[in-house]
Amino acid sequence: MRPDDLQRFAGHITAGFVPAAERSEEAERLERVAQPNHSLLDTGFLALAVEVDGEVVGHIQARAPRFGFPPGVCELGINLFPEVRGQGYGTEAVRLFTAHLFSEGWVRVQAATSVTNNGMRRVLERSGYGFEGVLRQFAPGDVTGREDYVLYAALVP
Ligand SMILES: CC(C)(COP(=O)(O)OP(=O)(O)OC[C@H]1O[C@@H](n2cnc3c(N)ncnc32)[C@H](O)[C@@H]1OP(=O)(O)O)[C@@H](O)C(=O)NCCC(=O)NCCS
Repeated sequence: MRPDDLQRFAGHITAGFVPAAERSEEAERLERVAQPNHSLLDTGFLALAVEVDGEVVGHIQARAPRFGFPPGVCELGINLFPEVRGQGYGTEAVRLFTAHLFSEGWVRVQAATSVTNNGMRRVLERSGYGFEGVLRQFAPGDVTGREDYVLYAALVP
């Protein structure tokens, strides 16, 4: 991952979570967690670049905050650059990364997304995640107020 990739990632962080003024801080944080050879268990955060034919097209992350989740549980997130969405890369990346997390010993991978995020919901459903319920007013919304999210999870086979 290169420094300009980090700036691009920071600029694409899902709206509502990171105000524009804090995006360079977000790039610095991504730089710290993008150091090679750290594990999700060590740092509680693992971010990988998603590449297509050698080009970085987005990033995929797993989070396992210490004392935040029970042992063996982590949460997945993904963000692809707008120009590459809708071509199957999200589904492929989620499937590959989920299999990797299981191979590393995680037993439950969960993912939450806005109730209206039909693309992410479909990716999760196509990648073996089951719908578990609605998280009411879970996160700040794109426009105003807070949004309901849906929780999905995949269990180690
Ligand atoms: C959500 C995201 C990861 C999906 O990845 P993607 O590569 O665009 O999705 P895919 O091409 O693999 O599509 C998988 C399925 O979802 C459907 N889909 C994709 N985008 C969609 C949309 N905006 N609305 C409805 N369906 C959509 C596809 O038609 C496909 O369905 P099918 O299997 O029935 O044909 C990607 O669009 C993205 O990064 N979005 C912005 C960030 C984001 O929302 N991240 C998740 C936050 S929790």
